[in-house]
This record gives sequence, structure tokens and C-alpha cells, in this order.
Amino acid sequence: MAKVVLVYGSTTGNTEALSEHVAAGLKQAGADVTVKNVTDASVGELAGYDAVVFGCSTWGAGELQDDFIEFHDEMDGASLEGKKAAVFGPGDSDDYPDTFCEAVDILEDALKNSGAEIVAESFKVDGDVEPAFGDAEAWGSRVAEAL
Ligand SMILES: Cc1cc2nc3c(=O)[nH]c(=O)nc-3n(C[C@H](O)[C@H](O)[C@H](O)COP(=O)(O)O)c2cc1C
Repeated sequence: MAKVVLVYGSTTGNTEALSEHVAAGLKQAGADVTVKNVTDASVGELAGYDAVVFGCSTWGAGELQDDFIEFHDEMDGASLEGKKAAVFGPGDSDDYPDTFCEAVDILEDALKNSGAEIVAESFKVDGDVEPAFGDAEAWGSRVAEAL
């Protein structure tokens, strides 16, 4: 059973809510999942897992959710060679068309730079997250199947 850690950063709870559904999908497809708020996670502990899933909303103009900034800095120079990875996050293309879900792309780049292999296309949720809970579960299952 693949050991997966899902690390999320969330200011108003949207990414947190999506995380529960992504985690449910991962579990349904047979993964052993640990969910952590990024405020309680460190880059070093990722070594103990086969795969990492990051969930992060976009703030400012195309910036990482606040709590993820330090973690992202920590990733600089870290090796995630051999880890499988995938990233999701909510955003808002009506209000932020030029920086829609950019945090997701920033984290994908950081994972690739650390040597991790992206195993599923990123999952970006536009606007209200509630209608996307089903898609979040399905995406989680797809990620688990790709491990
Ligand atoms: C001040 C502010 C800036 C934002 N900037 C962006 C942005 O640049 N790109 C984007 O796609 N969404 C942006 N958003 C939308 C948030 O990412 C969205 O509300 C998200 O669901 C918040 O998730 P969270 O509660 O997990 O932090 C912004 C929202 C606010 C209030």
C-alpha cells in the first residue's frame, strides 16, 4: 500500500475542505493517507512517504497561500528524488484571470526541481469548492491509481 502525505495550506478553509475529499478518493483507491496542515509539516518528513500531494490556494496576485511560503522556501535544495507527486488547489478566474491557481503551478515546479515525478495533471477548482467535492474524490483516486 502506497504511503501518501497530503499537505495543504488554506486561509478560509476551501483547500482544507477539498483536502478531505481528495484524501477520501486516495483511500478508496487503496492508498494509506496522512493529511497535514502545512503549518504542522516539514519538508524533511516527506522522506517517510512514497508520494506527496500538495493542496494550496492562490493569494495576493499569483502567490502561495501564506502558510505555504516557508515550506516552499524549505524545498529549495531538498531532494525528493524517487517520490511521486501531484498538486491541487482552488482559485478564482473571474477576479484573478491572469493568476488563476498560480500557486498550483509554483508548487509543481518546486516538486519537479526537487526531482519528484508528477503523476497526475494538476486539479484546479474555479470558484465555489463545494460543487467540486465529487471531482476532488475522483482526482484523488486517479492519483492513487498512478502510484
Ligand atoms: C485577496 C485575495 C487574493 C486572491 N488572489 C488569487 C489569485 O491570484 N489567483 C486565484 O486563482 N485566486 C485568488 N484568490 C482566490 C482564492 O484562491 C480562493 O478564494 C480560494 O478558494 C481560497 O482558498 P483557501 O480558503 O483554502 O485559502 C484570491 C482571493 C483573495 C481574497
